[in-house]
Parts: sequence; structure tokens; C-alpha cells
Amino acid sequence: MEFRYLGRSGLKISEIAYGNWITHGSQVEEDAARACVAAALDEGITTFDTADVYAGTRAEEVLGRALKGVRRESLEIFTKVYWPTGPGPNDRGLSRKHIMESINGSLRRLGTDYVDLYQAHRFDYETPLEETMRAFEDVVRQGKALYIGVSEWRAEEIEAALKIAEARGFDRIISSQPQYSMLHRVIEAEVVPLCEREGIGQIVWSPIAQGVLTGKYLPGQPPPAGSRATDAQGGADFVKAWMGDDVLTRVQNLKPIAEEAGLTMAQLAVAWVLQNPNVSAAIVGASRPEQVRDNVKAAGVELDPALLARIDATLGDVITRDPANTQSPATRP
Ligand SMILES: NC(=O)c1ccc[n+]([C@@H]2O[C@H](COP(=O)([O-])OP(=O)(O)OC[C@H]3O[C@@H](n4cnc5c(N)ncnc54)[C@H](OP(=O)(O)O)[C@@H]3O)[C@@H](O)[C@H]2O)c1
Repeated sequence: MEFRYLGRSGLKISEIAYGNWITHGSQVEEDAARACVAAALDEGITTFDTADVYAGTRAEEVLGRALKGVRRESLEIFTKVYWPTGPGPNDRGLSRKHIMESINGSLRRLGTDYVDLYQAHRFDYETPLEETMRAFEDVVRQGKALYIGVSEWRAEEIEAALKIAEARGFDRIISSQPQYSMLHRVIEAEVVPLCEREGIGQIVWSPIAQGVLTGKYLPGQPPPAGSRATDAQGGADFVKAWMGDDVLTRVQNLKPIAEEAGLTMAQLAVAWVLQNPNVSAAIVGASRPEQVRDNVKAAGVELDPALLARIDATLGDVITRDPANTQSPATRP
């Protein structure tokens, strides 16, 4: 495993991180979840990403149990707050009340005294940004989180938060967690240039486009049994965006490129996001341990510019680049 600094902070994280959205507490049984975490640890992954909302809060519990007994100092545990965790109007968003309550719930479920990184899962247009930043600052001062970050915030939103931190002497945001893959490059135009200037690292999600970039979904064919596209508990809905025949056909055409590079398609996809120097880690998901073992081999891989150009030409206009796609809900969910 290779390690990178998270932005301009002193925190080192494994450049391949393991995330448990869709899987833990939902798509996969606890045994499979534990086997994936065990494989991740065995392969040198030290960075684990979850969120209060995943699987209706069960995902944090599963991860907490799977990591029990592992030396806490050898792990970086990341979680998030924003999406609903209960029925009430204050069980969501980035108000001071919800942040203070949600961090306590996350720590309890994860079985830890602190998380290494606490992330705003989206931007909350209903809460003054100053209230959110002060609550995050207090979470840090209370020792419940060591660093703070955001997810899917637009460049101007990150910039506004940095200004408040500067004016008030709060800890700065050190990370941004956007969707980023060969197919989805919306951060490149605005978020990455700002973050490079400001020392904020990207921890990118769905680097394999939820499994699509493995090439296992064939155009015009039913998805393989047990894959996310067959997961009726929610996975199928999320991966649907990438399941059109135009995307699947282009992805099939990446196969010879991966073969020539001596990589599996999944490894090529993970290696691709890691070529961006502003990326601190790729968060991979897995429904079985063999996938983790496959994906981690992307660590340390360098792709040459000619190969990157062939990927661009092969995917052509199915690549999404419009920065307007970085969006948070206009009102609280
Ligand atoms: N901040 C946010 O808003 C946000 C949103 C989404 C995700 N995330 C984070 O990012 C993490 C990763 O997201 P993701 O799970 O969508 O990432 P991903 O790595 O793009 O997709 C993972 C899925 O692809 C399939 N897969 C992975 N490796 C494979 C391989 N080698 N061969 C065949 N299939 C393979 C598996 O699904 P099947 O086996 O079921 O097909 C696996 O669960 C999440 O767990 C979460 O921590 C954050």
C-alpha cells in the first residue's frame, strides 16, 4: 500500500480506502462485510469511510464491529453528517443541534472515542454556514473528530467556509469527497483548482463507477447475479445512471487498454483517479473480499500519458464534465 497526505494536513492515509455504502448492513451479510474489512486490513488499507446515514445507521455499527480489536492508532476512520438519520426535522442537515447529536451517535455505533475525519455530506442551504463551521470547530475542540472535511461541495461553497475559518480562527477544511472516475470528471474544472491552491485533498468516491468500470455489465445483457445492479435494496437505483448501452459499450472498448497495461479493468479505473495529484485517496467499495484484493493492486501504479489519451478517446462524449453537476439538495432532504 502507498500512503498520501490528506491535503496539506499532516495526516497520512492509504491511497486506497475502503468504504461501506450500499454494502454493510444492507446488500451484504455481516460475514461478507467482515471478510471484506479483513481483506482490506490484510492488504494494507488503513483508511475506512462510512456515514451516519448508510443503511439507516447500521453500516457504522457493522464497521465498528469489524474493526473491533484493531489498534485504533493504526486506523483512519472517516464518517459524515447531513442526510436523515431519523424522522424529525432536526435529524438531518448541518445545524448545530444535528451535528452535535449525530457525532455522538456515530462514535457510539463505531465503538470509538473519536473519528479521524468528520465530513459534511452535502451543503445545507437552510443553516447559516457560520453555524455549521462553529459546530464543526466545537466537535474538533471536544476531541470527537481530529479533522474536518466536506463532500460534494461546490468550489464557491468550500471557499466561503475557508473564509469563515480564517476570520474566526477555526480549523480549516482539509478534504473534499466528490464522485470522481474516468466517467465522471466534474471536479476538474473548479473544485480541483481551488483545492490545489488551498491545500485540500480529494478523497474520491465511486472510482469504479459502482462496478461499471470493471466491464462486468455487458450492453444489452442482464446484469450478473449478485451485482449491485441487481440489488433491490437501493444499489440498483444508484448504479442505473451508468447502465445505458452507450456507456457500457464504450467501457467494453477499454478492455484492450487495461490488458496492454497489465491491469484488470477495476485496477485501471482506480489507478486512473490516483494519477490526479490532488487526489489523496480512492475509496473503493466491495461486496466480496476478492474485489478488495483485486482493487488494491492499483496502488502505486503509474499510467503513461499516451494511455490516458487513449482512455479519453475511447470514452469520448459519455464522460460527464459539467461542474454544475456538483450539487446539494436545495432544501434539506
Ligand atoms: N460522499 C458521498 O456522497 C458518497 C457517495 C457514494 C459513495 N461514497 C463513498 O465511496 C465508497 C465507494 O463507493 P462505491 O461502492 O460506489 O465505489 P466503487 O468502488 O466504484 O464500486 C464498488 C462496487 O463495485 C463492485 N466492484 C468493486 N470492485 C470490483 C471488482 N474488482 N470486480 C467486480 N466488481 C467490483 C462491487 O459491487 P457488486 O459486487 O455489488 O457489483 C462494489 O461494491 C462508499 O462506500 C462510500 O464510502 C461516498
